[in-house]
Amino acid sequence: MDQPRHVPVLLDRVLELFAPALQGKPAVVVDTTLGMGGHSDALLGAHPELTLIGLDRDPQAIEMAGKRLAHHGDRVHLVNVTYDHIDEAVADLGYSRVDGVLMDLGVSSLQLDEEERGFAYSKDAPLDMRMSKGTGMTAADVLNTYSHGDLARILSTYGEERFAGKIASAVLREREKEPFTNSGRLVELLYAVVPAASRRTGGHPAKRTFQALRIEVNGELESLRLALPAALGVLGVGGRIVVESYQSLEDRMVKQAFAELAKSKSPLGLPVELPGHGPEIKLLTKGAELASEQEVEDNPRAAPVRLRAAERIGEPR
Ligand SMILES: C[S@@+](CC[C@H](N)C(=O)[O-])C[C@H]1O[C@@H](n2cnc3c(N)ncnc32)[C@H](O)[C@@H]1O
Repeated sequence: MDQPRHVPVLLDRVLELFAPALQGKPAVVVDTTLGMGGHSDALLGAHPELTLIGLDRDPQAIEMAGKRLAHHGDRVHLVNVTYDHIDEAVADLGYSRVDGVLMDLGVSSLQLDEEERGFAYSKDAPLDMRMSKGTGMTAADVLNTYSHGDLARILSTYGEERFAGKIASAVLREREKEPFTNSGRLVELLYAVVPAASRRTGGHPAKRTFQALRIEVNGELESLRLALPAALGVLGVGGRIVVESYQSLEDRMVKQAFAELAKSKSPLGLPVELPGHGPEIKLLTKGAELASEQEVEDNPRAAPVRLRAAERIGEPR
């Protein structure tokens, strides 16, 4: 049986939100964050006519999910790209519009569990953190080369870390002695710099710094900023998008992208919508939905989730 941490987050709600857009027709869904294929497997199981396009930047996720989804045969197409390439991936497979887009952001249990990839602060491992294995800058490169200002900025913005300046100073001091290679030394430094009193409310002293480094190394916010309009752009009328975010900057971007398209562009005070100026999407969730207490107890990874969903009701303006 799967470990509880491998259970897809808010699975029943995701299936429920997509159902009206997929039922009883040969629909197409893009799972932009395939991971271990949990959500995809359930969607394919629930809709026998569904074709699924699965994207992931991590080649290992593509390989493992490929095995898991193999029994669905030629209904599954997997592409190893970042999700901001969703429009090209869809077009390359011969589709112009799709009926569903799922984005389950962040890292997978697989990535967290693989010690040598350096995502988990609970294990001493090389400071790597690249989701697209082997390409680009590592977390160690960030720590060893960034200026004090840049380090403090990413820690404060991406990690919402109150002690960003103090941590950046300590990193610069330490790297003079010897460059950072492994997570253990960074965790030790964070224990020394983050005041013990703040742990009661802020959790593990390394949590926010590790999140910030991961977001920086993988350009996560830039990728999401580009992906949201691209994902909404490939959605046909009646199609639905569901996004699960795990930190507030991502959730804010999703909220703003949805709000912009849910607004009418007709001049204020007109009794009717001007053609081509009406809302493009309607929101399916009131604010962001959270996981139930029971789900968080069963699957702690669900604790920070914020789910937002929308349906395309008009052509792109
Ligand atoms: C939370 S996991 C998805 C889990 C999946 N829903 C499941 O049920 O197994 C997120 C996945 O998104 C991938 N990912 C993160 N950022 C990405 C990006 N910019 N483009 C494509 N994939 C990305 C990660 O590599 C990871 O495998």
